[in-house]
Amino acid sequence: MTELAALKEAVEACRRCHLRDGARNVVFGEGNPHARVMLIGEGPGRQEDLQGRPFVGAAGQLLDKIIAACGWQRSEVYIANIVKCRPPNNRVPTIQEAQTCMAWLDQQIRLIAPELIIALGSTAARHLINPNFRITRSRGHWFEYKGIPVMPTFHPAALLRDPSKKRPVWEDFKQVIAFLEQDEACSR
Ligand code: URA
Repeated sequence: MTELAALKEAVEACRRCHLRDGARNVVFGEGNPHARVMLIGEGPGRQEDLQGRPFVGAAGQLLDKIIAACGWQRSEVYIANIVKCRPPNNRVPTIQEAQTCMAWLDQQIRLIAPELIIALGSTAARHLINPNFRITRSRGHWFEYKGIPVMPTFHPAALLRDPSKKRPVWEDFKQVIAFLEQDEACSR
């Protein structure tokens, strides 16, 4: 068994917070265990909870389009969330819940060792970058999480509510593509 598979088993047995009580499934995350890009959202919604997979509802379908527009396959990136169990009524996870679950996320990040992380939305940005992070003000700039470059951008659900956010998100993803191309050129 790989270390990532062992981690998934441990997370599935987790009872460190009460979110598991109200969730049908644990949404561990999925994708290429050696992904260059890791996308991190907030937490599972209804569809994700039902299917046990991240970003499979309406926001996920939009994320799939963004991933395709970048020229990537969904299976070549890695997709996860700040919390792995659905908060009741999709409320924002509490600081305690997020910090408890991030002990698992940290192990996941360490095993995947992505070249960069895309923080999807303010919850991810607040926990990965700074608790006071303002997504509208500071998205589109590079930050770091444990030495890994982080690009914060709007959450796909925000784009569904406000399509004018699509252009800035595309600008942010273009920066990510440029970063990856440069990184590749340097490693040749
Ligand atoms: N929103 C998120 O933040 N994560 C998901 O997995 C789905 C919707």
